[in-house]
Amino acid sequence: MQYADVHGAHIPQIGLGTMTLKDDVCVQAVKAALDMGYTHLDTAAFYGNEKEVGEGLRASSVGRDKVFITTKVRENNLQPADFNKSLDQSLTNLQLPSIDLLLIHWNNKDIPFSVSIPALCAAKKDGRAKHVGVANFTTRMLDEAWAVTTEPLVCNQIEMHPYINQDKVVAASERHGMAVVAYCPIARGKLQSTDAIETIAKAHGKSPAQVSLRYLVQRGTVPIPRTATPAHLKANLDVFDFQLSDAEMAALKALNAANMRVVNPPHAPVWDVP
Ligand SMILES: NC(=O)c1ccc[n+]([C@@H]2O[C@H](COP(=O)([O-])OP(=O)(O)OC[C@H]3O[C@@H](n4cnc5c(N)ncnc54)[C@H](OP(=O)(O)O)[C@@H]3O)[C@@H](O)[C@H]2O)c1
Repeated sequence: MQYADVHGAHIPQIGLGTMTLKDDVCVQAVKAALDMGYTHLDTAAFYGNEKEVGEGLRASSVGRDKVFITTKVRENNLQPADFNKSLDQSLTNLQLPSIDLLLIHWNNKDIPFSVSIPALCAAKKDGRAKHVGVANFTTRMLDEAWAVTTEPLVCNQIEMHPYINQDKVVAASERHGMAVVAYCPIARGKLQSTDAIETIAKAHGKSPAQVSLRYLVQRGTVPIPRTATPAHLKANLDVFDFQLSDAEMAALKALNAANMRVVNPPHAPVWDVP
């Protein structure tokens, strides 16, 4: 495993995404992932599966202290009282006294950063979150959040895969010393079988999904692919034994021009234009 070391956080460079994983499927996926070597789990209050993520953790053979767990507070809970309630509920669900990384899941344009960011920081100060960060922030939002934060924002979790150009927000995140956590890292299964990915995958004896994850690792990001399929769980962890050449990285980077955004809900911000 490789790590992103940012502002004192030591983030395993592959995590298990859990959005849409429910009930026993979630419990078994988390347990299987941890037992095979995953040390990073991504959940959220919104996913409705924190209880199952906690159950999977306890069912596994891996100690709590070996696992980096992220959860998130959603955009309708960013006023301090709501924020505290949401976080407390997440910790109760997970049956944990603290979380490794707590994120604002989406900004709420009606709640200023002077309100939401102190609520986030308070969770770090009182020990319920070891680290804090954000998700789905644009370059402008990052600058505004950093202007008011009293705690380092260790990551910006954003959509990243070969078919989207996120250069501006990646550069802004890096300028602030933040990790870029890459969600939808295999474009929710929409990787094309006809383009450079397939050719590169064949050359390395890997799958297109593994090439996408390797591309993101070599770009220095932290992919969090989601699967409950045992063979895919194993494959998605198995991306540290090959290296993409500069030419292959450039061929994959060229696919960014498609600018395919998979996640764009009504409460999304006005994204940075590539
Ligand atoms: N912060 C945010 O706003 C935000 C937004 C979206 C997602 N996320 C986080 O990011 C995680 C990942 O994103 P995502 O779940 O949207 O999409 P994703 O991980 O890009 O794609 C998941 C899909 O890819 C398939 N898959 C996984 N591994 C595969 C492999 N090795 N080969 C072929 N297919 C494979 C899965 O099917 P199988 O189950 O059949 O393997 C599933 O259908 C989420 O689960 C969530 O934790 C965060």
